[in-house]
Amino acid sequence: MKVLLINGSPRERGCTYTALSEMAGVLQAKGIETEIFWIGKEPIQGCTACGACKKIGRCAFDRDGVNLCREKLAQAEGLVLGSPVYYGAIAGGMKCFLDRLFYAGKPPRYKVGAAVCTLRRGGGIAAYDQLLSYLQLSEMVVAPTRYWQAVHGNTPEELAQDLEGMQTLRETAASMAWLLESLHKANLPAPQPEQPKRGTNFIR
Ligand SMILES: Cc1cc2nc3c(=O)[nH]c(=O)nc-3n(C[C@H](O)[C@H](O)[C@H](O)COP(=O)(O)O)c2cc1C
Repeated sequence: MKVLLINGSPRERGCTYTALSEMAGVLQAKGIETEIFWIGKEPIQGCTACGACKKIGRCAFDRDGVNLCREKLAQAEGLVLGSPVYYGAIAGGMKCFLDRLFYAGKPPRYKVGAAVCTLRRGGGIAAYDQLLSYLQLSEMVVAPTRYWQAVHGNTPEELAQDLEGMQTLRETAASMAWLLESLHKANLPAPQPEQPKRGTNFIR
């Protein structure tokens, strides 16, 4: 089994990477393969709502890592989204990346998901909820956690001093491993959504 962890910071080895690494360490100790995917610091195209992905099954823009990440996600059973907090929300590049990753192609239904954000001081819960929406609206199974996964620090060294935050990361990773194994053992088919899908857009 494999878990893909997305680092949505422009800093390759900053706080978000440190938080994801803490989780990856627990997953690996439980025999689960991990890969941290960095979205990079080059500009990331936002979704233009062109609708091409509905026809070709992938995003029409190939200049960044979105389509590569989609392929990796298809091969993984679990996903962790990580982002720094920028002005009380997830970082802009990560927002562009995730909008296209989750909108294009098959959603990761019934894969196991978790989210984490890192921040200096304020806005962590709003950003964390923002990340959770991608998981929940894709019908992913979100790993149980004891607290919001918002860990405090401006540098990896500071982050390591948030002992409660780091503990929460490890515990959530352990619950993720438990869920992955449980779902794997049960091997039950996922429920199928109703057809046709209704889209009323509040028009009556
Ligand atoms: C543009 C920008 C906006 C930020 N906004 C916030 C914020 O709203 N709240 C906060 O607590 N920290 C804020 N920070 C600090 C980062 O969230 C924090 O340093 C984070 O841990 C960095 O993670 P990284 O090392 O993975 O990039 C901001 C940093 C930048 C560069």
